[in-house]
Amino acid sequence: MGLSGKRVLLGITASAAAFKGVALASAFRRRGFEVDAVLTPNAARLVSPRQLACITARRVLWTEFADDPGDDPAPHVRLTEDLSLMVIAPATADFLARLSLGLGDDLLTTTALACNSPMVVAPAMHNRMWRNPVVQEHVERLRGRGVVFAGPVDGDLACGDSGAGRMMEPPDILQVCLELML
Ligand SMILES: Cc1cc2nc3c(=O)[nH]c(=O)nc-3n(C[C@H](O)[C@H](O)[C@H](O)COP(=O)(O)O)c2cc1C
Repeated sequence: MGLSGKRVLLGITASAAAFKGVALASAFRRRGFEVDAVLTPNAARLVSPRQLACITARRVLWTEFADDPGDDPAPHVRLTEDLSLMVIAPATADFLARLSLGLGDDLLTTTALACNSPMVVAPAMHNRMWRNPVVQEHVERLRGRGVVFAGPVDGDLACGDSGAGRMMEPPDILQVCLELML
């Protein structure tokens, strides 16, 4: 089997670049990947889970505390089984801190804790946030644990400023992921 038919878990966090995470889901699908999308609760306020469900043809989750008691009680475990890659795009500063510290305070972080597949993160934040030493400490710690960073890149930021912190474009993130899976 080539790359097509492989399953990717796409996490989306609450960045102004969250819409690019939706575009990345579409790019993975066009390359033949199965895609499961998980949002943080805050990201589900910025982008539409329904839109992602249309793109992925899968149920999209953003909480472990399902309304229906008959729902899977451990989606974070199921989602990480037979997984080729987990990619979080965009990744907020807050998410990077939680991932670095090993917190499991929402579905995306518990899924990341349960994941033993390669992981790619694509940070997105203001350049002063990205340069903040505490953010860089988390980044170094995650790199040391084998997490692959796709960007960020220099460029225009959502607030009108410009600098390092812009999320890498979806086709470039896809390329990083493809190279990791080859
Ligand atoms: C419209 C909007 C855009 C935001 N963009 C970013 C961003 O690009 N990067 C970032 O680190 N935080 C950003 N934030 C702040 C995060 O949403 C906030 O830290 C939140 O707690 C992160 O939640 P999550 O990581 O669980 O998704 C933004 C907030 C709002 C309301």
